[in-house]
Amino acid sequence: MARLNWGMIGGGEGSQIGPAHRIGAGLDGHFTLAAGAFDVDPAKGVEFAGTLGVAEDRAYGDWRAMLEGETARDDRVDLVTVATPNATHYEITKAFLENGFNVLCEKPMTMTVAEAEDIVATARKSGRICAVNYGYSGYPMVRHMRAMVAGGELGRVRLIKAEFAHGFHANAADADNPRIRWRYDPQQIGPSAQFADCGIHALHMASFVSGQEAEELSADFVSCIASRTLEDDAMVSFRMSGGAVLRLWTSSVAVGRMHGLTLQVFGEKGGLSWEQEHPNQLYWTPVDGRTQIIERGAPDLSAAAQRASRVTIGHAEGMPLAFANIYADLAEVIMAEKESRSPDPAATHYPTALDGLRSMAAISAAVESANKSGNWTDARPPSFRG
Ligand code: NAI
Repeated sequence: MARLNWGMIGGGEGSQIGPAHRIGAGLDGHFTLAAGAFDVDPAKGVEFAGTLGVAEDRAYGDWRAMLEGETARDDRVDLVTVATPNATHYEITKAFLENGFNVLCEKPMTMTVAEAEDIVATARKSGRICAVNYGYSGYPMVRHMRAMVAGGELGRVRLIKAEFAHGFHANAADADNPRIRWRYDPQQIGPSAQFADCGIHALHMASFVSGQEAEELSADFVSCIASRTLEDDAMVSFRMSGGAVLRLWTSSVAVGRMHGLTLQVFGEKGGLSWEQEHPNQLYWTPVDGRTQIIERGAPDLSAAAQRASRVTIGHAEGMPLAFANIYADLAEVIMAEKESRSPDPAATHYPTALDGLRSMAAISAAVESANKSGNWTDARPPSFRG
């Protein structure tokens, strides 16, 4: 496949989600990061673009300059990712769609329903893609759940239970921390905090898997930390379009919970259960049957799950990230040598030829030992023996 040109708005140095986009877009080699307006501070954004290898004439100080610059080029970006704070999504996404660009916008797509209706209409009119980053729907086993429901394996879906409940904004003493405070400020986040930030991921997952959309809901919002005007915990019940009931709990004060994203789907013929913190296993219990574990990468998964499985069965989903860390360490050490400086000590733990030698000595010793009914055998390389 020919490489596509890709651009980013937001996701600057130190941002939470920018690196995940760059890792994700870079993984298969389909996209070249060709342009960007990465930071709310133009100078910082241009400087950061340089460190990412973006050419000088495509390192933009702000998104309007990027829109103008890219629109004028024959090799304009094929896709623009909008990874800025929520209040800016609408204006940027709309402008790029109107000028004929495909867009991947972070969630929540807009601040209001009217803006969202307008984005849908603008995308339709432009004929361009407007994707929204409900990234958890990319997990292979989530796609397999969807295929099982669509294939009728659960029968009619009766109940769905979705949770996205973590405990990282639970400390009242931390409520004024600027990194947390904006998330509960209606001016910056809109009329909902936790439900808009995390709850909509759980809702999207429930709809994605069940094929049913929300028709009616009953919500109970609370602010467990008194200084917050917006909710930090919500319990919402939904009546779904296919007759199922969805119970959704989202929280940022559930101390001890980590990411806390889980999905259970209960149908006439059986139930499915999946947890994002253990993404490789899907639990399936047929009615009156035993619970079975369906492993990511198994040969009989749906085509959608197979396409999304990037590592072989048994390897954890994030395994390529461990490889990425080896490459990052090597890059740091090579760069340090070129720049005549000491490398970051934390980058010096990559395995070396010595580890290779020790492994070879262990293999040789194991074979020798096995041939001698398990005799204790020296496993050290010869050069390490006294
Ligand atoms: P952040 O505050 O860590 O980073 C925002 C970045 O955007 C910064 O680099 C900032 O300088 C830059 N920026 C701000 N205004 C800009 C502008 N006008 N032009 C260019 N750059 C600008 O925010 P975070 O946590 O990375 O969130 C960004 C968006 O991603 C939010 O909408 C958030 O809801 C969403 N998000 C989505 C997740 C997902 O799983 N899909 C997970 C985390 C965040």
